[in-house]
Amino acid sequence: MSEKKFHRPVIVVNFKAYQEVNGPGALELAKICEKVSEESGLKIGICPPMVDLGYVARNVDIPVFAQNIDPRAPGSATGWVTPAMVKACGAAGTLINHTEHKIRLNEISECTDLAKASDLITLICSDNDRVAAQVAQFRPDFIAVEPPDLIGGDLSVTKANPAIIENTVDAVRSVNHTVMILCGAGVKTGADVRAALDLGADGVLLASGVVRSKDPEATVRDLVRKV
Ligand code: G3P
Repeated sequence: MSEKKFHRPVIVVNFKAYQEVNGPGALELAKICEKVSEESGLKIGICPPMVDLGYVARNVDIPVFAQNIDPRAPGSATGWVTPAMVKACGAAGTLINHTEHKIRLNEISECTDLAKASDLITLICSDNDRVAAQVAQFRPDFIAVEPPDLIGGDLSVTKANPAIIENTVDAVRSVNHTVMILCGAGVKTGADVRAALDLGADGVLLASGVVRSKDPEATVRDLVRKV
């Protein structure tokens, strides 16, 4: 599968650090996402915990993203995650500046450049439309807007704050016509995905709705049902 090519609609599942994806859980959930991706023909990206990144990347044929990278070059860098090692372990890309792992604007720029130099797909996260427009200048492959107050909740951003999606699309498109725009926070169903697309996003970035689901396969199947 050519990892670079994503087509609208895009679904990226962030596994975060939930108990459910500790140990064997990460590959089990990755295999579910791979199965639904293959059956639906829709490319689903996944972000497993860093400790399982290479193992998962070598065992599934869907794009695997690091949840974060550090702006470090290979060498004497203890405990840091370099773009080069993320690429070498088989990952296709990386999140940058997730609201739960925020970095400064100059570091976002540096991480994006280093990730591109390692041929990694870049997905920069932003809290709002203003930050999204700022980071669009770094020309990532994706920008995801996620209002922090809705993350992990039961109310989808497409219902609670549809304007932030529309405003982000307008703000980003005014500076960058090629980046794909995702939205996230509280997204849980195929109806939420459809609403995101209708608001102008190219897809969604989500976590708890899948990772904490009692039936993750049914949940992932529902996500692709209305696209
Ligand atoms: O990275 C996506 C995440 O921040 C959204 O979280 O649990 O609201 O889908 P959640």
